[in-house]
Amino acid sequence: MARVRESPLYSKDKIAEVVAGTDLVALVRQFVDLKRTGNSYVGICPFHTEKTASFHVTPEKGVYHCFGCGAGGNALTFIMGMNKLSFPEAMEELARSAGVALPREKRSVDKDSGFNRQDFYDVMNRAAILYQNLLWAQPEPEAMTYLRSRGISLDLARSYQLGLSFNGWEYLRGALKKEGFDDLLLAEAGLTRARQTPGAGFYDVFRNRLMIPVCDPQGRAVAFAGRTLPSETNPEVAKYINSPSTAIYHKGNLLYGFHQARSHLRGAGLAFLVEGYFDLLSLVQAKVQNVVASMGTAVTQAQINLLRGQVKEVYLLFDGDAAGRKAASRALPYLLNVELDGKVITLPDGEDPDTFIRKRGSEGLYEVAEKAKDIIDYYIEGLLADCGPTLGGESRAIREARETLGHVPDLAKGELLRRKLAKKLNIDPNVLKVRPQSPPAKTPEKPVEVRDPAKTVTHIAQEILVLIIVHPELAKNLPALAPYWPQDASFPVYEALTAQFKESGQIAPEKIHLEENQEISSIISGALLSPRTKKPEDAAVIFNEMIISLKALAAKAEQMDKSQALKAAEKEGNEELVKTLAQEKAALPHPLMSKMKPQ
Ligand code: GTP
Ligand code: MN
Repeated sequence: MARVRESPLYSKDKIAEVVAGTDLVALVRQFVDLKRTGNSYVGICPFHTEKTASFHVTPEKGVYHCFGCGAGGNALTFIMGMNKLSFPEAMEELARSAGVALPREKRSVDKDSGFNRQDFYDVMNRAAILYQNLLWAQPEPEAMTYLRSRGISLDLARSYQLGLSFNGWEYLRGALKKEGFDDLLLAEAGLTRARQTPGAGFYDVFRNRLMIPVCDPQGRAVAFAGRTLPSETNPEVAKYINSPSTAIYHKGNLLYGFHQARSHLRGAGLAFLVEGYFDLLSLVQAKVQNVVASMGTAVTQAQINLLRGQVKEVYLLFDGDAAGRKAASRALPYLLNVELDGKVITLPDGEDPDTFIRKRGSEGLYEVAEKAKDIIDYYIEGLLADCGPTLGGESRAIREARETLGHVPDLAKGELLRRKLAKKLNIDPNVLKVRPQSPPAKTPEKPVEVRDPAKTVTHIAQEILVLIIVHPELAKNLPALAPYWPQDASFPVYEALTAQFKESGQIAPEKIHLEENQEISSIISGALLSPRTKKPEDAAVIFNEMIISLKALAAKAEQMDKSQALKAAEKEGNEELVKTLAQEKAALPHPLMSKMKPQ
């Protein structure tokens, strides 16, 4: 992640206001199930795969830290990491929920569309409201009748913000233009499309369809699906039209119904995963609320990742046909990657989750769920059945198994699958050893191991900062260290702490702008959350040793700089400069000389 040292956009006060106005626990809870322990909260880290909770949040310090992978920081770094936002985007996002006004002219702009992300949220939100109003105003009662025919109650229609798009070419465009939305924004948001003749204007993409808003985990409409109504008799017309990917929506990254399901997912500890919008709506109608939908596309890792941290088990509930079976199997590697247990529910032939639950209700669903198969066994059975017992079939099965295993970059995670597969295929497990095909999922960088014996100046500087944060009584030594401090990522933190000390005689590490310094934010958050306090006299001794090393290393660096400059000057033949530099070098204290006691 890029470091944002000085943000030209926002003053430190503005940033601090946004961070202070954000409820860190509530923010993290949008992604992680947190349990309270004393003054802090713990949960499963959203930045790496783990089974035991190493992710700590301490609201009073405004910091989170994972003791497993080292990820750490404040509210801004958290949302940047979770939602892959740039610093300005993260500021805008948090400022909005914190109710902090940001100067409008400084808003960030999406490089593809030229619009601000907030513009997209605004226009999608307005469109959702217009569609919803249209459904309830019933200019075409057909849509309501249709919902009723599918067993969807008015309450459900309301809570999923279902709507209707007008049966005309420029209804939405006209209405939103009147509200001041730009034609180009509407088109970038996928709500309208330019007519073929250049300059001929734009037309609505969604016309006379039941409108289903797709929301992000925060509950904001970011896309729409439009379903045909029964009056559409042309078989050529697609049943669903979906929004394209935009600045705020990436196909395959979201699960339909996730934000409504979240609390139910946690409560149940398991998720039902279906494919279709109506599958989901019918389950919710039957009071099965811990359900999310993959929206037709093959399940993605990003979708499975949304479930991690909310549930331990995922029940795949797909159509009973061959396509549904294939879709269930595809999810296996993604579940393995994040250590979620998968179960596959088999529905009777010809049923899909929607028809099944409408016939048999939630009781029927729980009955078949009890008989669900472990996804690994399910996958292997399917593989054997598809490939058959012939020699050609066997090699095809090996190829397919390898491909599946190739989607599990951390092969240790796929080990059980590999062994089971080998046993079933009656082959040596090593035959199934594969190199990962896709690059391993990006995990946050490991924190610098500060106990490394080959201590570099960077390590020492970080250790000193940690020690001072844990033992603030040592802060009085900060100002004197200025000449020796390395110009690396720790420097702004050093400067900030020194300035605090000079101003008030004490330090306030929790006020450090971690978002500006992601390289060491995890070190600071670690020091804040898990102070390894030492006896004051021990701390002082260790501190002195570190400072001696820091000075020695600084002197060595200066020697090396001079030597390099000297070499360059010699090469150039600049005799005068050579002379000056040689004198300066001779005057430098020998690195070992500076191993004197600090004052
Ligand atoms: P109903 O047919 O009304 O029961 O809808 P459904 O949501 O149950 O859809 P279905 O089971 O047929 O398909 C599953 C999912 O695939 C849908 O929810 C859509 O996300 C997607 N899908 C289905 N048909 C289409 C289509 O024609 N175009 C696109 N883009 N997606 C589709
Ligand atoms: Mn269906």
